[in-house]
Amino acid sequence: MQNYTFFSYYSNNRYSFADLFFQKIVKAIVFSTKDKKLQEKPAMRTFQHKAELTEWVMHRKSLNKTIGFVPTMGALHNGHMSLIRQAKQENDLVVCSIFVNPIQFNKPEDLKKYPRTLETDLEVLAELGCDAVFNPSESEMYPEPEKKVYDFGMLDKVMEGRYRQGHFNGVAIVVKKLFDIVQPDRAYFGEKDFQQLQIIKAMVNMESLEVTIVSCPTVREPDGLAMSSRNVRLNGEQRLDASLVYAALKMAKELYPTHEVHQVKQRVTEKINASPHLEVEYFEIVWADTLLPVIDKEARNEMVVGCIAVYAGEIRLIDNMAFNL
Ligand code: PAJ
Repeated sequence: MQNYTFFSYYSNNRYSFADLFFQKIVKAIVFSTKDKKLQEKPAMRTFQHKAELTEWVMHRKSLNKTIGFVPTMGALHNGHMSLIRQAKQENDLVVCSIFVNPIQFNKPEDLKKYPRTLETDLEVLAELGCDAVFNPSESEMYPEPEKKVYDFGMLDKVMEGRYRQGHFNGVAIVVKKLFDIVQPDRAYFGEKDFQQLQIIKAMVNMESLEVTIVSCPTVREPDGLAMSSRNVRLNGEQRLDASLVYAALKMAKELYPTHEVHQVKQRVTEKINASPHLEVEYFEIVWADTLLPVIDKEARNEMVVGCIAVYAGEIRLIDNMAFNL
């Protein structure tokens, strides 16, 4: 009787019938699980060139597949993931873009320090079952300097628009370009960037695009801090106190029905500025549709949102909360 060790089993050619049978079974199991995996999650495609992605999309649209699109700047967290999950539920195929858009940064330092984690981002997207990722170079997106200027009226003159000049023009330009490339049926944006959401809706109207804009709720850390790619840059003390932003918004929502707008604004600013690590840049209570400040609370029966920007050192945090829901 031959006694096969692990080594001799693979190095010897003299397999018994039982060995060969065993090998066949193992192979069958390995290949069937591989096949199953392939069936469950078809390989995710990555594109750097717009023409190739458009061709991929057009082919699938000709087969009547619906396309959900999630534009991002990468450094993906649970907030981004919730958008991808919702897009997966509502469409046949999901495309995600990862592009740190230089023309929406008004401070070169912020652009330079923006976290870039492409490899893990791709793993996350593959795991979520994303079908295609667009990760273009700067020259692919901007072969020539961009000259377009949108007129958003007051929408981009207040809050983020006031403190980050040119920011929303840069956002609108890149999103329009991405929509032209991806031709999505639906595109997903987070309520975390409430003003951006309103700007995108306005751009879609102005350009008469067919895409449906889907707004998704803000995903928060357990202590309430809205998830953001910039949060990884907070030091320990800043991170601890950053939860005050959410606490202050909740307080504002409670005070709003019984207090004057200026009183609510003062209380919020005091609460946050009491931390040596935080400084309020603005806190505004605005009408959701126009983003204009609420002066006469009784005048309209429409949604009101508290919007805030806070500096933690050089890191800028933004957040918002609907007050009358
Ligand atoms: P980015 O900051 O990467 O965000 C991509 C999308 O994720 C945006 O729609 C944003 O609102 C959403 N998001 C971010 N944090 C979230 C959270 N905590 N909960 C829910 N959604 C969240 O926003 C941009 O990129 C860019 O401006 C972009 C639209 C891609 C244009 O360059």
